[in-house]
Amino acid sequence: MTTKKQPTIIAFSTQKGGVGKSTFTTLIASILHYRMGYQVTVFDCDFPQYSLLQMRERDLKTVMQNEILKKMAHKQFTSINKKAYPIFQSKADQVLDEIKMYVEGSEITPDVIFLDLPGTVNTAGILQTLTNVHYIFSPITADRVVLESTLSFTDVLTNVLMKENQTGIRSIHLFWNQVDGREKTMLYKNYSKVISDLGLQLMETTITDSKRFRKEGELVAKTVFRSTLLPADPKLLVQCRLDQFIEEFLKIIKL
Ligand SMILES: Nc1ncnc2c1ncn2[C@@H]1O[C@H](COP(=O)(O)OP(=O)(O)OP(=O)(O)O)[C@@H](O)[C@H]1O
Ligand SMILES: [Mg+2]
Repeated sequence: MTTKKQPTIIAFSTQKGGVGKSTFTTLIASILHYRMGYQVTVFDCDFPQYSLLQMRERDLKTVMQNEILKKMAHKQFTSINKKAYPIFQSKADQVLDEIKMYVEGSEITPDVIFLDLPGTVNTAGILQTLTNVHYIFSPITADRVVLESTLSFTDVLTNVLMKENQTGIRSIHLFWNQVDGREKTMLYKNYSKVISDLGLQLMETTITDSKRFRKEGELVAKTVFRSTLLPADPKLLVQCRLDQFIEEFLKIIKL
Protein backbone atom coordinates (compact mmCIF):
# COMPACT_ATOMS: atom_id res chain seq x y z
CA MET A 1 0.00 0.00 0.00
CA THR A 2 1.29 3.42 -0.89
CA THR A 3 0.57 6.29 1.40
CA LYS A 4 -0.73 9.43 -0.21
CA LYS A 5 1.39 12.56 -0.15
CA GLN A 6 0.24 14.75 2.72
CA PRO A 7 -0.42 18.46 2.28
CA THR A 8 1.38 21.07 4.36
CA ILE A 9 -1.11 22.81 6.64
CA ILE A 10 -0.46 26.49 7.26
CA ALA A 11 -2.31 29.16 9.23
CA PHE A 12 -1.86 32.88 9.51
CA SER A 13 -3.11 33.05 13.02
CA THR A 14 -3.17 35.16 16.16
CA GLN A 15 -5.60 35.76 18.96
CA LYS A 16 -6.08 39.34 17.83
CA GLY A 17 -8.55 40.53 15.25
CA GLY A 18 -7.85 42.83 12.33
CA VAL A 19 -4.10 42.30 12.07
CA GLY A 20 -3.99 40.74 8.61
CA LYS A 21 -4.78 37.03 8.90
CA SER A 22 -7.34 36.85 6.10
CA THR A 23 -5.45 39.33 3.93
CA PHE A 24 -2.24 37.31 4.06
CA THR A 25 -4.09 34.06 3.52
CA THR A 26 -5.47 35.28 0.17
CA LEU A 27 -2.36 37.13 -0.95
CA ILE A 28 -0.06 34.17 -0.37
CA ALA A 29 -2.59 31.54 -1.51
CA SER A 30 -3.11 33.36 -4.82
CA ILE A 31 0.60 33.75 -5.51
CA LEU A 32 1.38 30.09 -4.73
CA HIS A 33 -1.57 28.76 -6.74
CA TYR A 34 -1.74 31.07 -9.75
CA ARG A 35 1.88 32.12 -10.20
CA MET A 36 4.11 29.47 -8.63
CA GLY A 37 2.33 26.34 -9.76
CA TYR A 38 1.43 24.90 -6.37
CA GLN A 39 -1.94 23.34 -5.68
CA VAL A 40 -3.68 25.29 -2.93
CA THR A 41 -6.86 24.74 -0.91
CA VAL A 42 -8.31 27.13 1.66
CA PHE A 43 -10.54 26.26 4.60
CA ASP A 44 -12.35 29.30 5.91
CA CYS A 45 -13.16 28.58 9.55
CA ASP A 46 -14.01 32.10 10.56
CA PHE A 47 -17.59 31.40 11.58
CA PRO A 48 -19.93 33.25 11.23
CA GLN A 49 -18.22 35.93 9.09
CA TYR A 50 -16.66 33.58 6.51
CA SER A 51 -14.81 36.56 5.13
CA LEU A 52 -12.79 34.63 2.53
CA LEU A 53 -15.82 32.92 1.03
CA GLN A 54 -17.49 36.29 0.77
CA MET A 55 -14.37 37.76 -0.75
CA ARG A 56 -14.37 35.04 -3.41
CA GLU A 57 -17.96 35.91 -4.31
CA ARG A 58 -17.11 39.60 -4.56
CA ASP A 59 -14.00 38.82 -6.61
CA LEU A 60 -16.06 36.79 -9.07
CA LYS A 61 -18.45 39.69 -9.56
CA THR A 62 -15.63 42.20 -9.90
CA VAL A 63 -13.92 40.12 -12.56
CA MET A 64 -17.12 39.50 -14.52
CA GLN A 65 -17.97 43.18 -14.56
CA ASN A 66 -14.65 44.44 -15.84
CA GLU A 67 -13.39 43.70 -19.35
CA ILE A 68 -9.69 44.04 -18.53
CA LEU A 69 -9.95 41.81 -15.47
CA LYS A 70 -12.01 39.32 -17.41
CA LYS A 71 -9.31 39.11 -20.07
CA MET A 72 -6.58 38.77 -17.43
CA ALA A 73 -8.46 35.97 -15.74
CA HIS A 74 -9.21 34.20 -19.00
CA LYS A 75 -5.59 34.35 -20.08
CA GLN A 76 -4.42 33.09 -16.68
CA PHE A 77 -6.80 30.17 -16.39
CA THR A 78 -6.10 29.05 -19.95
CA SER A 79 -2.36 29.08 -19.37
CA ILE A 80 -2.25 27.44 -15.93
CA ASN A 81 -4.87 24.92 -16.98
CA LYS A 82 -6.40 24.50 -13.53
CA LYS A 83 -9.29 25.97 -11.61
CA ALA A 84 -9.31 28.64 -8.94
CA TYR A 85 -8.30 27.23 -5.58
CA PRO A 86 -11.31 26.02 -3.63
CA ILE A 87 -12.38 27.87 -0.50
CA PHE A 88 -14.35 25.62 1.82
CA GLN A 89 -16.40 26.70 4.76
CA SER A 90 -15.71 24.87 8.00
CA LYS A 91 -15.62 25.22 11.77
CA ALA A 92 -12.50 25.36 13.87
CA ASP A 93 -13.41 22.17 15.75
CA GLN A 94 -14.32 20.16 12.63
CA VAL A 95 -11.79 21.28 10.09
CA LEU A 96 -9.14 18.62 10.81
CA ASP A 97 -11.61 15.81 10.10
CA GLU A 98 -12.84 17.62 7.02
CA ILE A 99 -9.30 18.03 5.70
CA LYS A 100 -8.70 14.32 6.19
CA MET A 101 -11.82 13.40 4.27
CA TYR A 102 -11.05 15.92 1.57
CA VAL A 103 -7.51 14.66 1.04
CA GLU A 104 -8.64 11.03 0.97
CA GLY A 105 -11.45 11.78 -1.45
CA SER A 106 -9.87 14.18 -3.91
CA GLU A 107 -7.92 13.24 -7.01
CA ILE A 108 -5.39 16.02 -6.71
CA THR A 109 -3.73 16.31 -3.31
CA PRO A 110 -3.12 19.94 -2.46
CA ASP A 111 0.48 20.93 -1.76
CA VAL A 112 -0.70 23.49 0.77
CA ILE A 113 -3.85 23.90 2.82
CA PHE A 114 -4.43 27.29 4.41
CA LEU A 115 -6.71 27.60 7.42
CA ASP A 116 -8.28 30.95 8.19
CA LEU A 117 -9.12 30.64 11.88
CA PRO A 118 -11.12 33.01 14.07
CA GLY A 119 -9.16 35.54 16.07
CA THR A 120 -10.04 34.22 19.49
CA VAL A 121 -9.02 31.29 21.68
CA ASN A 122 -12.55 31.09 23.00
CA THR A 123 -13.81 29.35 19.88
CA ALA A 124 -14.48 25.63 20.39
CA GLY A 125 -11.63 23.41 19.32
CA ILE A 126 -9.35 26.16 18.13
CA LEU A 127 -6.39 25.19 20.31
CA GLN A 128 -6.68 21.54 19.31
CA THR A 129 -6.78 22.57 15.65
CA LEU A 130 -3.88 24.99 15.97
CA THR A 131 -1.67 22.33 17.50
CA ASN A 132 -2.16 20.24 14.36
CA VAL A 133 -1.19 23.01 11.95
CA HIS A 134 2.33 22.47 10.56
CA TYR A 135 3.38 26.12 10.27
CA ILE A 136 1.88 29.08 12.06
CA PHE A 137 2.62 32.62 10.90
CA SER A 138 1.46 35.33 13.27
CA PRO A 139 1.19 38.93 12.13
CA ILE A 140 1.98 41.45 14.85
CA THR A 141 1.54 45.19 14.81
CA ALA A 142 3.07 47.94 16.92
CA ASP A 143 0.26 47.90 19.43
CA ARG A 144 0.94 46.96 23.03
CA VAL A 145 -2.26 44.97 23.49
CA VAL A 146 -1.75 43.00 20.27
CA LEU A 147 1.85 42.31 21.20
CA GLU A 148 1.42 41.26 24.81
CA SER A 149 -1.37 38.80 24.06
CA THR A 150 0.28 37.37 20.95
CA LEU A 151 3.61 36.94 22.70
CA SER A 152 2.18 35.18 25.73
CA PHE A 153 0.08 32.86 23.58
CA THR A 154 2.99 32.05 21.25
CA ASP A 155 5.20 31.51 24.29
CA VAL A 156 2.84 28.83 25.62
CA LEU A 157 2.59 27.12 22.23
CA THR A 158 6.34 27.18 21.66
CA ASN A 159 7.84 26.75 25.09
CA VAL A 160 5.28 24.48 26.69
CA LEU A 161 3.26 22.49 24.17
CA MET A 162 5.88 22.09 21.43
CA LYS A 163 8.64 21.23 23.93
CA GLU A 164 6.51 18.49 25.42
CA ASN A 165 6.00 17.09 21.92
CA GLN A 166 2.29 17.56 22.26
CA THR A 167 1.83 19.09 18.84
CA GLY A 168 2.30 18.57 15.13
CA ILE A 169 3.59 22.13 14.81
CA ARG A 170 6.93 22.34 13.01
CA SER A 171 7.48 26.02 13.64
CA ILE A 172 5.83 29.29 14.58
CA HIS A 173 6.98 32.60 13.10
CA LEU A 174 5.96 36.08 14.09
CA PHE A 175 6.23 38.91 11.59
CA TRP A 176 5.77 42.66 11.74
CA ASN A 177 2.86 43.86 9.66
CA GLN A 178 1.63 47.39 8.91
CA VAL A 179 4.99 48.90 9.66
CA ASP A 180 5.22 52.63 9.26
CA GLY A 181 8.91 53.23 8.73
CA ARG A 182 8.94 56.72 10.22
CA GLU A 183 7.52 55.82 13.59
CA LYS A 184 8.09 53.77 16.70
CA THR A 185 11.56 52.53 15.78
CA MET A 186 12.38 51.96 19.46
CA LEU A 187 9.23 49.97 20.01
CA TYR A 188 10.10 47.60 17.15
CA LYS A 189 13.64 47.25 18.43
CA ASN A 190 12.63 46.61 22.03
CA TYR A 191 9.94 44.11 21.18
CA SER A 192 12.18 42.30 18.72
CA LYS A 193 14.57 41.77 21.61
CA VAL A 194 11.77 40.55 23.89
CA ILE A 195 10.76 38.09 21.17
CA SER A 196 14.23 36.65 20.81
CA ASP A 197 14.73 36.53 24.60
CA LEU A 198 11.56 34.43 24.83
CA GLY A 199 13.09 32.05 22.31
CA LEU A 200 10.46 32.85 19.69
CA GLN A 201 11.12 33.23 15.98
CA LEU A 202 10.65 36.54 14.23
CA MET A 203 10.78 36.80 10.45
CA GLU A 204 13.34 39.15 9.00
CA THR A 205 10.96 40.68 6.51
CA THR A 206 8.69 43.43 7.80
CA ILE A 207 5.58 44.36 5.83
CA THR A 208 4.91 48.01 5.13
CA ASP A 209 1.65 49.71 5.92
CA SER A 210 0.07 50.39 2.55
CA LYS A 211 -3.32 51.52 1.28
CA ARG A 212 -3.07 48.70 -1.24
CA PHE A 213 -4.11 46.18 1.38
CA ARG A 214 -7.42 47.86 1.93
CA LYS A 215 -8.44 47.74 -1.71
CA GLU A 216 -10.11 44.54 -2.71
CA GLY A 217 -9.88 42.66 -5.96
CA GLU A 218 -10.36 45.77 -8.06
CA LEU A 219 -8.22 47.03 -10.87
CA VAL A 220 -6.00 50.01 -10.11
CA ALA A 221 -3.92 51.32 -13.02
CA LYS A 222 -4.26 47.92 -14.71
CA THR A 223 -2.93 46.04 -11.71
CA VAL A 224 -4.47 43.79 -9.09
CA PHE A 225 -3.32 43.37 -5.51
CA ARG A 226 -5.57 41.39 -3.18
CA SER A 227 -7.75 38.91 -5.03
CA THR A 228 -8.72 35.27 -4.59
CA LEU A 229 -8.75 34.85 -8.38
CA LEU A 230 -5.57 36.58 -9.50
CA PRO A 231 -2.12 36.92 -7.93
CA ALA A 232 -0.88 40.34 -6.85
CA ASP A 233 1.04 42.31 -9.43
CA PRO A 234 4.80 41.74 -8.94
CA LYS A 235 5.57 45.47 -8.83
CA LEU A 236 3.09 45.97 -6.02
CA LEU A 237 4.64 43.09 -4.08
CA VAL A 238 7.99 44.81 -4.09
CA GLN A 239 6.55 48.07 -2.75
CA CYS A 240 5.41 46.50 0.51
CA ARG A 241 8.21 43.86 0.64
CA LEU A 242 5.87 40.95 0.02
CA ASP A 243 8.36 39.58 -2.53
CA GLN A 244 10.93 39.18 0.26
CA PHE A 245 8.26 37.80 2.54
CA ILE A 246 7.39 35.04 0.09
CA GLU A 247 11.03 34.10 -0.35
CA GLU A 248 11.46 33.81 3.42
CA PHE A 249 8.12 32.00 3.77
CA LEU A 250 9.07 29.38 1.16
CA LYS A 251 12.41 28.76 2.86
CA ILE A 252 10.59 28.07 6.12
CA ILE A 253 7.92 25.73 4.79
CA LYS A 254 10.33 23.88 2.45
CA LEU A 255 7.71 22.85 -0.09
N1 LIG B 1 0.28 45.87 5.67
C1 LIG B 1 -0.95 46.41 5.71
N2 LIG B 1 -1.12 47.74 5.43
C2 LIG B 1 -2.34 48.29 5.47
N3 LIG B 1 -3.45 47.65 5.79
C3 LIG B 1 -3.36 46.35 6.10
C4 LIG B 1 -2.11 45.64 6.08
N4 LIG B 1 -2.35 44.36 6.42
C5 LIG B 1 -3.68 44.25 6.65
N5 LIG B 1 -4.29 45.43 6.46
C6 LIG B 1 -5.74 45.75 6.58
O1 LIG B 1 -6.18 45.50 7.90
C7 LIG B 1 -7.55 45.12 7.89
C8 LIG B 1 -7.71 43.82 8.66
O2 LIG B 1 -7.10 42.76 7.94
P1 LIG B 1 -7.70 41.28 7.93
O3 LIG B 1 -9.15 41.31 7.66
O4 LIG B 1 -6.82 40.48 7.06
O5 LIG B 1 -7.45 40.90 9.46
P2 LIG B 1 -7.87 39.60 10.24
O6 LIG B 1 -6.73 39.34 11.15
O7 LIG B 1 -8.25 38.51 9.30
O8 LIG B 1 -9.13 40.10 11.04
P3 LIG B 1 -10.31 39.25 11.73
O9 LIG B 1 -9.79 38.85 13.06
O10 LIG B 1 -11.43 40.24 11.81
O11 LIG B 1 -10.61 38.09 10.85
C9 LIG B 1 -7.95 44.98 6.43
O12 LIG B 1 -8.64 46.13 6.02
C10 LIG B 1 -6.62 44.87 5.71
O13 LIG B 1 -6.70 45.31 4.39
MG1 LIG C 1 -10.07 37.45 9.11
